[in-house]
Amino acid sequence: MKIALVGGTGDIGMGFAMRWGQNHEIIIGSRSEQKAKESATAFKEQLGAAGNIQGNDNASAIASADAVVLCVPYEHLAYVTSGLRGSYNSQLVISPVVPMTYNGKFFQYQPPPDGSAAMQARSLLPPDVKVVSAFHTICAAALQDINRIMKADVFICGDDAQSMEITAQLAREIKSLRPLIAGPLTASSLTESLTPFLLNVARKNKIKDAGIAVVSERPTIK
Ligand SMILES: NC(=O)c1ccc[n+]([C@@H]2O[C@H](COP(=O)([O-])OP(=O)(O)OC[C@H]3O[C@@H](n4cnc5c(N)ncnc54)[C@H](OP(=O)(O)O)[C@@H]3O)[C@@H](O)[C@H]2O)c1
Repeated sequence: MKIALVGGTGDIGMGFAMRWGQNHEIIIGSRSEQKAKESATAFKEQLGAAGNIQGNDNASAIASADAVVLCVPYEHLAYVTSGLRGSYNSQLVISPVVPMTYNGKFFQYQPPPDGSAAMQARSLLPPDVKVVSAFHTICAAALQDINRIMKADVFICGDDAQSMEITAQLAREIKSLRPLIAGPLTASSLTESLTPFLLNVARKNKIKDAGIAVVSERPTIK
């Protein structure tokens, strides 16, 4: 698959490029074509000969891709969706975007009027684009280390079964993430809000590169 990582020069973009760069054609997107190409070269060097990673400006990256991942902070979501609307052509668009703030004591979920970042992306993107919300609780630093086995779950919200399955497959390719369906796209506020919760718990308890996994208790046999 050809995957565009919009704002892929940043932390989570690098993580996805490292994890998917061996099985897919990755296009790092940036506001600056030169920065995108420099990042792509740097990521490819880390991945070795098997890495298939190019760089381009965000609009060109989106236009040429089968799937787009929005790898920008929430503040820039409007720019990479409505601002680049003409570059989309009915692809799958994955949003790991979390709108949150820090009040000096803890992180808080700060949903936009649409209810969530994913629902805002839905309203700003062309109607034929398939929006899926996923990867909010996956730590970029852990993703970037390709030797690290991540025992975490990826919560997926969406309205199109095929797009959700493609997203789930992308999660499965990252050892050992487990994709879990969390509901329709309107439920994305619930998964997005797990990120500030996770960051608060990680900070207060000094847990590095934290993630979330759902456990299943088995009845004790006496
Ligand atoms: N970091 C994590 O562990 C993590 C985990 C789960 C989810 N997420 C979510 O993933 C998204 C990206 O997080 P991140 O930590 O990777 O972000 P980041 O490194 O801070 O930034 C990503 C990229 O955003 C682009 N950007 C900066 N200012 C911009 C502007 N004014 N307009 C357009 N693009 C701009 C930059 O790319 P260029 O300068 O090249 O254009 C930058 O490299 C966020 O929404 C976050 O909530 C992050």
